[in-house]
Parts: sequence; C-alpha cells; structure tokens
Amino acid sequence: MKQAVIFDLDGVITDTARYHYLAWKRLAESQGVHFDEAFNEHLKGIDRMGSLDLILASSTRVYTPAEKLALATEKNEHYKELIALMTPGDLLPGAVQALDDCGTAGLKIGLASVSRNAFTVLDRLGITDKFDYVVDARTIARGKPDPEIFLAAATALGVAPAHCFGVEDAVAGVASIKSAGMYAVGVGDPHTLRQADVVIPSLAQFRLGDYLAA
Ligand code: BG6
Ligand code: MG
Repeated sequence: MKQAVIFDLDGVITDTARYHYLAWKRLAESQGVHFDEAFNEHLKGIDRMGSLDLILASSTRVYTPAEKLALATEKNEHYKELIALMTPGDLLPGAVQALDDCGTAGLKIGLASVSRNAFTVLDRLGITDKFDYVVDARTIARGKPDPEIFLAAATALGVAPAHCFGVEDAVAGVASIKSAGMYAVGVGDPHTLRQADVVIPSLAQFRLGDYLAA
C-alpha cells in the first residue's frame, strides 16, 4: 500500500505553468527567438537556467554567463509580478480535494517542485500547511528528469520510493518519478505523458483508491 504522495506544483495544483509560459515567451521574443506552446512543453519541469539554455540554443548569438544570469533574472522578475496577485482562487479544480483525500487516508504529503518560487506560490494559495515536507529547490543539484528531487522528498517523509507515488504534468517530471522507482500519475494529455502509469485530465479526476494499491 502507498504511504506517501509527492505532488508537483506548477501545472498540477495551480496554473503557474501559464505564467512561466508568458514570462519565457516575452523573454525569448526579446532575443529574437520564436517561442510557442509546443516548445514550451519541453520546458515544463525544467529549472530556470536549464530552460534559458534551451531557449537560447535557437539563437545565433553567444551569451556570456553574466548575460544569461541577467536574462534569467529578467524572466523571474516578470514571473514574480504575475504570481504576486495570486489568491486561493487560483487553485485548480480538485486540488484541495485531492490533498484532503490524501491527508484523510493517512498518507504523508510532499511537494517536489524545482521552482525557487514554490514557497511563495504555496503561501499565495494558502496551502503550505497541507504538506508534510516541501523540497527546497535550492538544495537540489540535478533537476527533473533526474530522480533526485522525488527521492529527496521520499527520504524526508521517511517512506521508501516503492511506497510513494508522484503526481506530475511535465514529461521531465514523469520521467523523474519513474526513475525514482515510484508509481506516476500524469496530469494532462495521455499522448504527451505516455511514460506515466495513469493519466488524468486534471486533479478533478484524482481517484486516490485507484493508486493506493497500484
Ligand atoms: C518548474 C516549472 O516547476 O519550475 C518550470 O515547470 C520552471 O517551467 C521551473 O522553469 C523553475 O521555476 P523558477 O520559479 O525557479 O524559475
Ligand atoms: Mg509542473
């Protein structure tokens, strides 16, 4: 039986994936790089500097480390403006119910987001206290799809990976869960997330009973 669940944040619990998209799009276009939803799909779950490197790979210019840092900071300032106005009304449908179902079932609940803004977003949403452990992205050396972040959450929760399951909207995130040796619930498109064990359109379709004994 599963004893812990580890959620991703952006795109699963709230639609910050949209805000990351808007902020990266403005940044990419300021550098003359074409940016659309299809390209953005590859950035989901990827950390800030990794995302910037993927975007700038299409540029003909060579950027110094200092220039890259300035661009990443510019994107983050825009992103922070977008999330500053978030409220509990920005929780996606089914998110609170899913968290509460897990709590009622006695599962430990973790959060594994590579976002350095995760604590701010949880605070704006008013759900920080629903988690037993939130991984601090600053302590993670390798981002998704590496398993490190999900394994760090499992260790902190004191549950073996085989008794955990993860919930993710990103291809890289599902890969991270699977290489951590956990059952993966994908949130989104089944074709995109085909490495997941099960895919649901949103947390409104979260059925804990289906995952507990899987
Ligand atoms: C992930 C998002 O959760 O966090 C990515 O899916 C984002 O799109 C990454 O780039 C890092 O976020 P931040 O807030 O640290 O720039
Ligand atoms: Mg995500």
